[in-house]
Amino acid sequence: MVKKRVAVMISGRGSNLAALVKACTAVEYPAKIVLVIANRPEAGGLEFASANAIPAVVVDHHEFTDRAAHEKEIARHLAAHRVELICLAGYMRILSQGFVQQWPDKILNIHPSLLPEFPGLHTHQRVLDAGHTEHGCTVHYVNEVLDGGAVIMQAKLPVLPGDTATSLAARVLKLEHKLYPQALARVAAAD
Ligand code: GRF
Repeated sequence: MVKKRVAVMISGRGSNLAALVKACTAVEYPAKIVLVIANRPEAGGLEFASANAIPAVVVDHHEFTDRAAHEKEIARHLAAHRVELICLAGYMRILSQGFVQQWPDKILNIHPSLLPEFPGLHTHQRVLDAGHTEHGCTVHYVNEVLDGGAVIMQAKLPVLPGDTATSLAARVLKLEHKLYPQALARVAAAD
């Protein structure tokens, strides 16, 4: 099987990166992580990449005059590593329309809500404030609308009495770690 070459883009902790890397160790998994790109030098996921011998680069947006220049450098790394699919995993910068349009149905993102409900930030608190009894996470394609691309897979859980944003975030994160590898496998195998 020829495995799809995947880049994971991160800004922080990188627990979803770790889940994807773990899934990729399976012989039958249809993708492999060939590159990690962080826009922040302090992103915790960089240590994970280094400990697991995955090529990683920091493309710090502070070092570029504008978004186009930053993305041009990202594109250079993607090309150098012959990347075929991109997984955003806690990547906290919005990609420009121009960048996204170069990768139609090739960029995935994981979002901690049941999209189209609660796009954007602070999803767990917003779910609680809205009194919803169900919550979860979504893997979707990235297009020019923030958290607005077509849904690939979702996973749900109940909001429990006494839940806080912190307790919900922890349970949703565990669900994310299962869902993202499943969704990437589906896309990579079909691509
Ligand atoms: C996750 O909750 C993800 O859904 C959101 O950002 C968080 C990233 O966590 N987009 P991690 O860096 O993968 O641990």
